[in-house]
Amino acid sequence: CGIVGVTGNKNAVDILVNGLQKLEYRGYDSAGLYVNDEGKKDYLVKRTGAISNLRDAVNDMKINGSAGIAHTRWATHGGVTVENAHPHFSQDKRFYLVHNGVIENYRDLKEKYLSDVEFTSQTDTEVVVQLVDHFAVTENLNAKEAFKKTLSLLKGASYAFQLMDREEPNTIYVAKNKSPLLIGLGEDCNVVCSDSLAMLNVTHDFLELDDGDFVTVKPDSVTIENKDGEVVTDRQPFHVDIDASDTDKGTYPYYMLKEIDEQPNVMRKLSAEYLNENGDPVIDDDLLDSIKESDRLYIIAAGTSYHAGLVGKELFEKLAQVPTEVHVSSEFAYNMPLLSKKPFFIFLSQSGETADSREVLVNLNQLGYKSLTITNVANSTLSRESNYTLLLHAGPEISVASTKAYTAQITVEAILAKALGESSEIKAAKDFNLKQQLGFVATGMQSIVDEKEMINEISKKYFVDANRAFYIGRGIDYFVSLESSLKLKEISYILAEGFASGELKHGTIALIEENTPVVGIITQSNTAGLTRSNLEETMARGAKAITIATESLAKDNDDIVIPDVDQLLTPLLSVIPAQLLAYYTSLNKGLDVDHPRNLAKSVTVQ
Ligand code: G6P
Repeated sequence: CGIVGVTGNKNAVDILVNGLQKLEYRGYDSAGLYVNDEGKKDYLVKRTGAISNLRDAVNDMKINGSAGIAHTRWATHGGVTVENAHPHFSQDKRFYLVHNGVIENYRDLKEKYLSDVEFTSQTDTEVVVQLVDHFAVTENLNAKEAFKKTLSLLKGASYAFQLMDREEPNTIYVAKNKSPLLIGLGEDCNVVCSDSLAMLNVTHDFLELDDGDFVTVKPDSVTIENKDGEVVTDRQPFHVDIDASDTDKGTYPYYMLKEIDEQPNVMRKLSAEYLNENGDPVIDDDLLDSIKESDRLYIIAAGTSYHAGLVGKELFEKLAQVPTEVHVSSEFAYNMPLLSKKPFFIFLSQSGETADSREVLVNLNQLGYKSLTITNVANSTLSRESNYTLLLHAGPEISVASTKAYTAQITVEAILAKALGESSEIKAAKDFNLKQQLGFVATGMQSIVDEKEMINEISKKYFVDANRAFYIGRGIDYFVSLESSLKLKEISYILAEGFASGELKHGTIALIEENTPVVGIITQSNTAGLTRSNLEETMARGAKAITIATESLAKDNDDIVIPDVDQLLTPLLSVIPAQLLAYYTSLNKGLDVDHPRNLAKSVTVQ
């Protein structure tokens, strides 16, 4: 979910709706806002579906306000209905609340304190706002006291809350635990947001919040109290150096296509950021020493970032000879494997906010382990809470389906692996001319995106009407198969799986039917022949085989031929046709490419 708030600006409605639009990637089941026009009038508007529905509604109603809170939802408790959309309100319509997170003991609280209250929604959030009202009335508390009392009763809770009391029309009360939240400092107003991207039109200066912080936001003041109730006086704002226009689609129909096209530039940017004139990586010695003191790397990530981690394992093991394990964060958090004696942890996360990954980091910090976060977002939670950060420099990634963050993550892993290997005098790392290779990769990516129409044709011919599809490969090609199939399923809704091509015959081949598309990824000389044989096996059972092969391994009838680069870096190229295939298939099926159903880009609940 995404939340925004503003106080002290006559254009509150515009600021809120524009802010939500920028946060739409965090959820888009439904959206709503509450605004108060300096105590003269107040409004609550909620709509299901895209933010544009909410925008149309507030335009029709011609509402004004100087302070307000708003929310775009990714449903956790309760279906997608107007009633379950935020803001939620107390039964006397005095308090309004938006929430990102989950309250585990909401049923107990409801039973204990609110048995005679009539609820309008099925959400855990409504219990919180009704409780605030309950304590305000029964114990004669003001909004702040009633809210703090309510917070003290929440168990197992993750939250970013904004509360408004219609009796204090210019004040927003904010509380944060585990879910991300920032306060933005404007000229004549102050704002609240889940992500700075939402408020770049108002300010570039933000205060980060710690877990347990309680904040009183007024037009001319921001007061932060920490979890012990002490007023914090030394929190310094940080400056976000992103142009508001970087978050626009420009002339592109969808963010995803824009972000696919940006990848050659991201490669050049990373080369410039991390490699010096001689091509040597510029990486903090302290970070390298910490890793070198360890005996094993553990990469922790979710979704696409997990797939980038799998490629990272190859890079760290081949270039730096460090044994590496890759784990899905939601599993690692509760089923931690037996660790080596001196583990070092690498968190991979585009957003730096994924709750599953953060849960792992909190536990590891308590155990005293050191970690690095590789992320696209400076000052994100994972970045702040781990010992080291390497940035992806990919620019804002807005489309729910991740593309340029994946290739940037692999590139940063390659840079780090080379730095580690070189500092341990490992020949493979010293011989690896990464600067030159990244140049080849950038040019290669450009040549593939320039030929995108050909991939559109393949999509139309073989994928648009398919009900299932497979990507297969071995080793690094298998890892790319996993990412490629995730891309396809998340935006085209075709049941797609990535398989180790040798494993297909041990069960999954039963799913191959007449014309089932099976894409073989062939970039590794030692396994190319085997993958081709496995493709033959699927064709013998009716499959339509499609090949993505590197030039030096290509045969005359291959469908997509990609330029040669070092075999360790082929994922940076072989994934591009797969991204484009997913994009065009979604587009050709008439789906909303950037906003696939049921998903959100930044998942801040576990
Ligand atoms: C969500 C997104 C994925 C993303 C994953 C991990 O599921 O839809 O695209 O890969 O979260 O996100 P992170 O920000 O941690 O990389």
